[in-house]
Amino acid sequence: MKVAVFSTKPYDREFLAQANQLEGDGHDLRFLEPRLSIETAALAHDSAAVCGFVNDVFDRPVLEILAAEGTKIVALRCAGFNNVDLAAARELGITVARVPAYSPEAVAEHTVALILSLNRNIHRSYVRVREGNFALDGLLGFDLKGRTIGIVGTGRIGICVARIMVGFGCQVLGFDPRHDAEFTQLGGKYVELDDLLSGSDIITLHCPLTPQTHHLINTKAIATMKTGVMIINTGRGALVETRALIRSLKNGKIGHVGLDVYEEESDLFFENLSGQIIQDDIFARLLTFPNVLITGHQAFFTREALTAIARTTIGNISQFERTGQPTHLVSVAMLA
Ligand code: NAI
Repeated sequence: MKVAVFSTKPYDREFLAQANQLEGDGHDLRFLEPRLSIETAALAHDSAAVCGFVNDVFDRPVLEILAAEGTKIVALRCAGFNNVDLAAARELGITVARVPAYSPEAVAEHTVALILSLNRNIHRSYVRVREGNFALDGLLGFDLKGRTIGIVGTGRIGICVARIMVGFGCQVLGFDPRHDAEFTQLGGKYVELDDLLSGSDIITLHCPLTPQTHHLINTKAIATMKTGVMIINTGRGALVETRALIRSLKNGKIGHVGLDVYEEESDLFFENLSGQIIQDDIFARLLTFPNVLITGHQAFFTREALTAIARTTIGNISQFERTGQPTHLVSVAMLA
């Protein structure tokens, strides 16, 4: 099958080409560097499959162009599918597939890396020590043992975070409309969202971005939290209202923020912009806080995860070619 692969980086090329060879299905992979948008959609010309990542735009106008170019399947090489208009895809006869699980451990471990770095100010001490500044003022942390962590979304990644944090001796609270017995067996306790927000020292987000979870963390939610709370978001940027976050960082209500995702990340992340002036004033303001640590959507970025993503993506396309159904279908019903 001809596959137009958008937003290709050298590592995508390496892992996808390897999987294509290993699986032995011989798809014709066309690696394209641009991000998929209304301006670039025509590059998919004659490709029955289009492969995209988190910031590729699969809205109705783009899907209409893809359908006209002969696209039958959109194979996402990520778990989240908030960037696809599923209703439009269905109407246009385009099947959507994703990689539901590749390495939940990769994202969970990065989440914990953010918690540990922020708490013990590793990002600041790294810079200080390199400059010969061995003063400890401003680096004071707290013991994680005995603290309460609230996990919003106890799916694959949330459960991994719970497992690790139980190991640190934390009390673990969870909020999820779907209860998972493993979470409770680990020692986690399900509570209502309000109780999680008001009772946690650390709040970490692992639910999908949907209309219901958009700006889940907003001014109202932050007001109910403990003063000095740590908020971690490795889920999707728009789970958090960034302006509310900044206001609460300024007045000290929030003690630490760790982000691997950002609402407007599509204009920033995955590119080297070090020689340019950042035009996003909200993002620039976030970078000024010493108690904010931002990584550029790299939580998934491990060798194991990239191998699994590539194999599942190629597998989805091959299965679709053989049977008309990918292994991991995304359907409109999943939004409910
Ligand atoms: P999952 O589908 O296994 O778990 C998501 C959980 O969220 C489910 O248990 C679901 O019931 C729950 N949920 C749904 N609506 C909710 C709500 N309103 N409040 C609380 N919980 C709710 O998904 P997984 O694999 O754990 O991934 C979670 C999210 O992490 C993905 O949707 C994606 O956005 C993000 N992600 C980020 C990555 C990164 O590199 N930063 C990489 C992979 C995923």
